[in-house]
Amino acid sequence: MQIRIFDNAGQVGKATALLIGAQLVAKPDSVLGLATGSTPLPTYQELIALYEAGAVDFSRATTYNLDEYVGLPTDHVCSYHRFMKDNLFDHVNIRPEAAHVPNGLAANLSQAGRDYDAAIEAAGGLDLQLLGIGRNGHIGFNEPAETFIRGCHVVTLSDSTIEANTRFFASSDEVPRQAISLGIGTIMNAKRVLLIATGADKADAVEQSVNGEITPRVQASILQAHPDVIFLLDKAAAAKL
Ligand code: PGA
Repeated sequence: MQIRIFDNAGQVGKATALLIGAQLVAKPDSVLGLATGSTPLPTYQELIALYEAGAVDFSRATTYNLDEYVGLPTDHVCSYHRFMKDNLFDHVNIRPEAAHVPNGLAANLSQAGRDYDAAIEAAGGLDLQLLGIGRNGHIGFNEPAETFIRGCHVVTLSDSTIEANTRFFASSDEVPRQAISLGIGTIMNAKRVLLIATGADKADAVEQSVNGEITPRVQASILQAHPDVIFLLDKAAAAKL
């Protein structure tokens, strides 16, 4: 595990975008695992700038997002389909058919999860997985649990996640109670993992993930066992290391 600490969230975004950009320069047909949330926004802004400057090309890339709420229409302002279109896909030259987000509207969500895993495998697996981290140590929507779940699956969101995500919705009642999320097995199979965390409210989760025991109660702690993982943190998120 490598840890890089920056003064602020903007610098974390710049550094992360450089690493993703370098991945695309080295392997233009990379398979990227992407994340939503507030933390990746500076990264996506920097990636768009790199694209506009002609330094990064998404035309041969394939992307798979980590997760999606169950039951939200894809054009809902809080859906992760919409988030990705608004914050990255509509601003770079990724082929729409190559930009994947789990289907939270599938009639059979378990099958949709199995199909998503199979598609990633058929694409050759993830070359690089970008992750945020929840205040409870979740990655994707893999919430604290008794076990690590390998494949893409339906998750019941924890109270802490519902509370954290209420800021995007009119009220906590509107936050979907379930999501479909990539599993820990698929994340761990990514060739490289970049975990980004900014802000003091992530400091405990970061500390437990880096220094604590590997436990499904802190799902990000499994990354200690990944052969190529970089934590990119601002000073506030790194404060307890
Ligand atoms: P955030 O979410 O970037 O909005 O803090 C991260 C996460 O919950 O994984």
